Amino acid sequence: MGTKRHFRVWRGDSSGGEIQDFDVEVNEGEVVLDIIHRLQATQTPDLACRWNCKAGKCGSCSMEINGMPRLGCMTRMSTFEENETVTITPLRTFPVIRDLVTDVSYNYEKARETPAFAPPPGVKPGDYRMQQVDVERSQEFRKCIECYLCQNTCHVIRDHEDNKNAFSGPRFFIRAAELDMHPLDAKTDRKEYAKEHQGLGYCNITKCCTEVCPEHIKITDNAIIPMKERVVDRRYDPLVWLGRKIFRRDELASNGGGAGMEPSSSRGVTGDAAGTPFSSSRQPVAPDLGPDGKLDVAELLAPHAGGPSPFGDEQTFPLPDTGISYNHPESERPAH
Ligand code: SF4
Ligand code: SF4
Ligand code: FES
Repeated sequence: MGTKRHFRVWRGDSSGGEIQDFDVEVNEGEVVLDIIHRLQATQTPDLACRWNCKAGKCGSCSMEINGMPRLGCMTRMSTFEENETVTITPLRTFPVIRDLVTDVSYNYEKARETPAFAPPPGVKPGDYRMQQVDVERSQEFRKCIECYLCQNTCHVIRDHEDNKNAFSGPRFFIRAAELDMHPLDAKTDRKEYAKEHQGLGYCNITKCCTEVCPEHIKITDNAIIPMKERVVDRRYDPLVWLGRKIFRRDELASNGGGAGMEPSSSRGVTGDAAGTPFSSSRQPVAPDLGPDGKLDVAELLAPHAGGPSPFGDEQTFPLPDTGISYNHPESERPAH
């Protein structure tokens, strides 16, 4: 038998709402998401909350708990004092749809704008063997579960709605850093892109994003600061400065400056999403119901075609043995 604990939960929608009070049973080992489920089962069946894995891996259950951006499924009730009131509110940076569910499409729009991984033309799977050191360098950023707690925390958009057009946010700075570190990525101006199109300069390195990341990604230290430093190197290194004075920008690009990068919102994106401008004033739109009155399975019937594979669509798997080049020394191969 558990103990009764006091909870305050924000209820409402885009037109407004209020904090409501509940007393709910709490048992040993439970997390905040368990309490929300118990509330739904016993007192408020219409309380809206997004969740999926209950294992800290899908990034769906982002919310603010006692004012702190956290995952509901990874916040143990034992972290609070015995008599502490727990207040649960939706993410504050994104428009509320209902109760604890917010419209996080800003993040997907920023994801669409980020130019995709671009291997050099002609490279096929198996042509290139990545060194372990290169894998490890970007592995940290690959742990991102897209919970958007960092985006929610960043004051650049949390306090200034009008910055959303110009600022992609920490989640997409780590994506830029990850691609910048990828030895096969042919776009060599990821840092310039981050500065010119993602709003890297708005970040004043408060590290709030790093503090709330449930995957403990060192967003500021390992992605943002190194990128800012390299942007500065490129801009203020006297030799680079001289080169920029002598050559025009397009000549620099064609003389080893790498492939130029335009925002890709209108390239490689098909279907309804093609060329869609970001608009934070857009109201959330729910998908249409099927003839049976239920939602379709979105993954199967999504109206947007997936982006093209950077390797082309002709590749079949598994790859033939002959297409893979291993670098292991002969002597290390097991004897047959
Ligand atoms: S370090 Fe930069 S990106 Fe992170 S929260 Fe602060 S301003 Fe935002
Ligand atoms: S970087 Fe961390 S906080 Fe940001 S979306 Fe990824 S997992 Fe979440
Ligand atoms: S339910 Fe998946 S991260 Fe919480």
